[in-house]
Amino acid sequence: MTAPVIRVKVPATSANLGSGFDSLGMALSLYNVFCVTDLLPKGEFRSDVIGEGARELTDAGANLVIQSYIAACRTWNVEEKGFCILSHNVIPLCRGLGSSAGAVVAGVLIADSLCRVGAPEAELLRVMTTIEGHPDNVAPCYLGGMTVSAWDGGELRYVRFQSLPSDMHVVVAVPDVRVRTKDAREALPNSVEFGDAVFNLGRAALLTAAWATGKWELLSWGMDDRLHQQYRARLFPGGDVIMDRVRDIPGCLGVAISGSGPSVIALVRGKPRRVAEAMCATFSEYGVDSLFFVLEGNAGGARIDRSGV
Ligand code: HSE
Repeated sequence: MTAPVIRVKVPATSANLGSGFDSLGMALSLYNVFCVTDLLPKGEFRSDVIGEGARELTDAGANLVIQSYIAACRTWNVEEKGFCILSHNVIPLCRGLGSSAGAVVAGVLIADSLCRVGAPEAELLRVMTTIEGHPDNVAPCYLGGMTVSAWDGGELRYVRFQSLPSDMHVVVAVPDVRVRTKDAREALPNSVEFGDAVFNLGRAALLTAAWATGKWELLSWGMDDRLHQQYRARLFPGGDVIMDRVRDIPGCLGVAISGSGPSVIALVRGKPRRVAEAMCATFSEYGVDSLFFVLEGNAGGARIDRSGV
């Protein structure tokens, strides 16, 4: 097989981290790889998918990498060269692990590279966020680590934080049910109590400060939330109880619904197995199969290899 024209590797991400709705997120060491294998005439695309979504993501017209590539080309007013793309998907779909954001990041990076735009980091992230609609997955996906982002619908400001220490693990339990982000957003109320907004403000600020200073013992408070998780926990079996089942297990520093769910993420210092097993046992008790990943807390961001351009 000849070398791909462009190869992009993107990490999974976990957005919100509890209190930081639409603002905080972290990269996870689980990766999708997209290879542009051949160039085609302008506007022609072919897509093949291996792994997650292999049966349902075959339509090139509906492929989010290609759609994001086209959107980025139009933003930058450059010709939409056609291509064949092979996707190796590992990140589970519709589970709150940023598979869509990964596709957006890949599409924008392919446009930047193939069309020789050479956009700076802030412009790449602005375009990625515009396509995705919120920054909390695309920022850590592109930059790696944990990120804080603020978006006003046009401009973006962001900061990337240090990785977690090497003795900290990220446990992600993934149930065999899907929740679409659109549905999880529609489940949220139109307004919240002032006291709940104040609660989350303090928690998100504490979480960010804890991450910046390495005060990991503050994560359990910092990841607490009253804005969205109580509504989303009803959207998947076991959601109402799973976080309470693991919160007090020794070593568990914090637990949250990953993104818009239904996966659940726990940050664990020391041995992660008890937390992972408790999460999967809870899903089993509610009649749902699940699997867990024990991931690194220092995942890097998207990588692009342009050897064939
Ligand atoms: N912040 C987003 C949400 C992440 O919670 O809806 C999911 O895309």
